[in-house]
Amino acid sequence: MSNPLMNTYARLPVTFERGDGATLTDTQGKTYLDALSGIAVCSLGHAHPAISEAICAQSKKLIHTSNLYQIENQQQLADKLIDLSAMERVFFCNSGAEANETALKIARKFGNEQNIANPSVIVMNNSFHGRTMATLSATGNDKVHEGFQPLVSGFIRVDYDDIAAVEHHTQNKDIVAILVEPVQGEGGVHVPQAGYLTALRKICDENNWLLMLDEIQTGLGRTGEWFAFQHENITPDVMTLAKALGNGMPIGACLAKGRATNVLVPGNHGTTFGGNPLACAAGLAVINVLETNQYIPTIAKKGLALVNQFKSTLSDQAGIVDIRGRGYMIGIQLDRPCAQLVGLALEKGLLINVTRGDTVRLLPPFVMSTEQTEQLIHELSELIHDFLNQ
Ligand SMILES: Cc1ncc(COP(=O)(O)O)c(C=O)c1O
Repeated sequence: MSNPLMNTYARLPVTFERGDGATLTDTQGKTYLDALSGIAVCSLGHAHPAISEAICAQSKKLIHTSNLYQIENQQQLADKLIDLSAMERVFFCNSGAEANETALKIARKFGNEQNIANPSVIVMNNSFHGRTMATLSATGNDKVHEGFQPLVSGFIRVDYDDIAAVEHHTQNKDIVAILVEPVQGEGGVHVPQAGYLTALRKICDENNWLLMLDEIQTGLGRTGEWFAFQHENITPDVMTLAKALGNGMPIGACLAKGRATNVLVPGNHGTTFGGNPLACAAGLAVINVLETNQYIPTIAKKGLALVNQFKSTLSDQAGIVDIRGRGYMIGIQLDRPCAQLVGLALEKGLLINVTRGDTVRLLPPFVMSTEQTEQLIHELSELIHDFLNQ
């Protein structure tokens, strides 16, 4: 029988039936240790009782009304996110790409309101911002662009973690914003030098540009702070979130502050599903669990320990280029393509990811136990040794 699904994914030959914390069980009853969290989504692990309970309870009361009416959960979740981030207003949507679309529309309108003919946004080489036309155009990866020309115009590309490259464009009167990931995720887990965001903040202030941070992967504790910008003493003008906000319930958010707060007005932007009572109930439960269980303050230290343990098990191995990360975003870069490791790990009952072709990426759930973490270090190190020595 032909596959009824569009051919957009080269899927692995496994179907998961249920999950529990940091483990997943497939339809054959085999259990796997999940070091990927559904790509930085299930930070609280699978089937978290408090999240499941909140979703069940809300679904029995009300799932959807549309944004034509007041939605209490949405207001409460917005208040929570504002309290945690010091941003001022929130627009809820359903995914990361939609959150970034919102940010890009804010930038465009911010420019149009100043009569800038071609409002342009500085974006980074090696970045990832999504798969819609505007967000794939913002993305700094030729493979993502391939086949989709003409791209949306109005993007200027510079190297990541290169302040001089941004300064080079300060005379360009078309520029209205910078869109940047605080740590590049899909691009291979690149942590910029300390002070990078602060320097970008300064350039934006001096030039009346908006600093727009894509925290879709880094946000909600992944790097050891609620939001990665909190490692530096700044706030952005716009921040986008998605992934971990619903622990698997689809929800995204675009937060704005200062000059960006009131750019969008009724008629400019909208969504049928975005921020519905069910998605926001999940978001509220996620934040509640993160607050009460105090996971986030442990993530920076635990992430550093993981990186150091991988360094001690792997640093003598020929073929390791770099082991790096921030919090629970970890990359192990090899000197050769290693996509094969994903299938080899799966056979061993371990879920990992390879990004940029040569970098093993780990995004473990915050609930991974000490024993499970030791299992991850042991099994993955062994796999990488075997792979590089074969
Ligand atoms: C930094 C970043 N931005 C945007 C996106 C797109 O999010 P979504 O797949 O929910 O549209 C991703 C997804 O991987 C991401 O990592």
